Formats: sequence, structure tokens, C-alpha cells
Amino acid sequence: MSDSRRFLVTGGAGFIGSHLVTALLARGHEVVVLDDLSTGRRENLEMAVAEAVAAPIATSGDAGETVASDSSVGPLPDQLRFIKASLLEYDALEEAVIGVEAVFHQAAVPSVPRSFADPVATMRANVEGTIALLEACQKAGVRRIAMASSSSVYGDTPTLPKEESMPPSPMSPYALSKLTAEEAGGIFARTYGLDIFALRYFNVFGPRQDPASQYSAVIPKFITRMQSGEKPTIYGDGLQSRDFTFIDNVVYANLLAVGIDKSEADSDAMGRAGVDTDNRASGTCDVLNIGCGDRYTLLDLIKFLNEIMGTNSEPEHADARPGDVRHSHADIDRARDVIGYVPKIDFKDGLRRTTVFYTS
Ligand SMILES: NC(=O)c1ccc[n+]([C@@H]2O[C@H](COP(=O)([O-])OP(=O)(O)OC[C@H]3O[C@@H](n4cnc5c(N)ncnc54)[C@H](O)[C@@H]3O)[C@@H](O)[C@H]2O)c1
Repeated sequence: MSDSRRFLVTGGAGFIGSHLVTALLARGHEVVVLDDLSTGRRENLEMAVAEAVAAPIATSGDAGETVASDSSVGPLPDQLRFIKASLLEYDALEEAVIGVEAVFHQAAVPSVPRSFADPVATMRANVEGTIALLEACQKAGVRRIAMASSSSVYGDTPTLPKEESMPPSPMSPYALSKLTAEEAGGIFARTYGLDIFALRYFNVFGPRQDPASQYSAVIPKFITRMQSGEKPTIYGDGLQSRDFTFIDNVVYANLLAVGIDKSEADSDAMGRAGVDTDNRASGTCDVLNIGCGDRYTLLDLIKFLNEIMGTNSEPEHADARPGDVRHSHADIDRARDVIGYVPKIDFKDGLRRTTVFYTS
């Protein structure tokens, strides 16, 4: 594979990371995944490979090449290397960044309630782990990094939609860890000339999100409960709202952020006016909201799911949870201006695609 480029996806066995793996493999690139499988699963990687093989994407540099000659899941293809290790194992990080053009940093303890259950583990993985990764990148000369941040850094301030210039107000150890990781990104970018984007994701959903754990995100949990005739549980009155963002939009933003050229990032989608991040000065950590720019309540969500699945579920209500924000809504103008991000799949279309995954 002559023109392939190598990328590291930390947390690549998780929900978002494994979709990035699909996108990169489908474009003919080599991928290194570092993941400790604490919440991720090897099956996610197998699904990522199978999807990339089933739908290779011809790109300008590598037209028509596919990721593997064998479409069976199971053994991973040569283009994908899996390192089962924690961000806190520095030797593994040093190995993972060798020959890498850019890093998609997704690995983290990813939930607000989990961060209250174990705040120290959250800070270690999300802050110490991020700093260790940044150090390994800097030493290996890897300059481009897209880091997963979170809308939770805004907290529960009343102004909507959230703009990146607003003062953060974290309400949980998780939000604090994400904000601190962004600040670490800024320090490493300015000090060593790294080129970093901290992408503040807003409530990402889609296939492969784990519906089973007590910390699961709301959409896969609701779909699986409603499908089996159980009531979905809403914490609070259900009028809290979210800017639900389908996974494809998040993948697209990541590809744009690391400078995978516009035509390549767009090659499975409608054409968009992209920005060549090669023209951007190095030494900055740009913070960008990645959402859809709309918001829906949890009661809206149940109504839409009832329509899509042909069910008639009523929610049951439980007490609101600590650290949950009331409303979340992204202003995405800056992401559009800086990297050319415009969401490709809207909420309802994303819900339909997600429902197909969980119900077929
Ligand atoms: N899903 C969302 O709605 C959402 C919203 C905002 C931000 N994020 C962020 O996006 C990223 C990906 O989240 P996700 O939803 O895919 O969660 P996920 O749990 O599916 O993925 C996280 C992955 O990181 C791995 N991991 C955790 N700690 C690790 C460590 N110390 N070393 C190596 N690997 C480790 C896990 O095994 C898992 O595969 C996270 O950084 C999360 O904070 C997610």
C-alpha cells in the first residue's frame, strides 16, 4: 500500500474510536489502536474492520485500495495494529506513536456518573494519561492531535447555545478532567509547537455504543429497553435537552481537524467547503464545539423513538442525578469557520440509523 499514512487512535476499541478506525481503514490508511479495554471491546475493532472492508472509500492518494483481502472478522488485518495497554503505560505510548502522522485521542474514562464513583481513576486516565500521550507525541515529533473533549466543561450556565469563548464551569470530576486535558493541550501546543484541536463533543450517539452498563448513554439504553417492552428511565422531568450528535458527524470533524484533506474527509459524503489545516499556525490548541446546533428534550427523544420503532412506551421518572446539566446546545460556527465542519446527518436520521443497528 504505497501512499498509506499511519494514524494512532487511542481508545480505538471504544464507541467513537472504533468508528474512526473504520473511517481510516476504509480510506486505505494504517491504524494503530492503543486501548486498555476497560470500557472498549475487541469486537468493536472487528466490526470496524468488517465495515471498512465492506465499504472501502476511494481517495485521491490511494484510489480503490481496500484494507484487507479477507472480509471475515476475527484476526485483524496488517493495516491495523492493536496495542492492549493503558495511557498510563509510558513504554506502550512510545511504541504506539512511532511513524504516526497524527493522533486521534479518544481514550478516557468517559462518563459523569462514573467520575463521581471513582474521581481519582478519572483524573488519572483523562489528565495524567493525556499528558503522557502529549509528551510521547512531542518526543516522537508527532505534531497533530485531535483530542476528545466534552460539552460538559460548560456546566449548567444558562446561556444557550454554548460558544467556545464562554467561561467553563465544570460540575463533575469528568468535566474537570476534560477541561484540564484541554489546558494541558494548550501548554504542550504553545511550548513545543504541537498542532492540537480539542473537540468538545455534544452527546454523541450511534451504533456500537454499549447499552448494557449502568453508565450507558441514554439513546442505546432507551432503544433496547423500549424494544423489549420495558419503560425507559428518565432522571428528572424529561424536559432537559441535549444537542444529540450522530457519530458520523464526529468522525468527520476529527478527519478535518487532523488535516486529512477535504476531498478525502468528504469522500463518503456530500461536498462541503473545507479548510486546509496545513495553513493553520502550529503551536495552538483550538477548542471547537462538535454538535449539530439543535437541541431536543428527552421526552422528544422518546416520542421520536416510538415513531421510528412503532412502539408506545411511556417513561418512568427517577430523581435527577448530580452533575447532569439541564440544557446542552452547541454553537458550531467556529468549527465551521476553522475546519469547515458542517454536520452531515441530522438527529432524526441518526436515530433511524442507530435503531436499525440495535434492532436488527
Ligand atoms: N460518547 C459521548 O457522548 C461523548 C461526549 C463527549 C466526549 N466524549 C469523549 O469521547 C471519547 C470516547 O468516548 P466513547 O463514548 O467512545 O467511550 P468508550 O468508553 O466507548 O471509549 C473509550 C475507550 O477508551 C478506553 N480507555 C479508557 N481508559 C483508558 C486508558 N487509561 N488507557 C487506554 N485506553 C483507555 C476504553 O477501553 C474505551 O475503549 C472519550 O474521551 C469521551 O470522554 C464522548
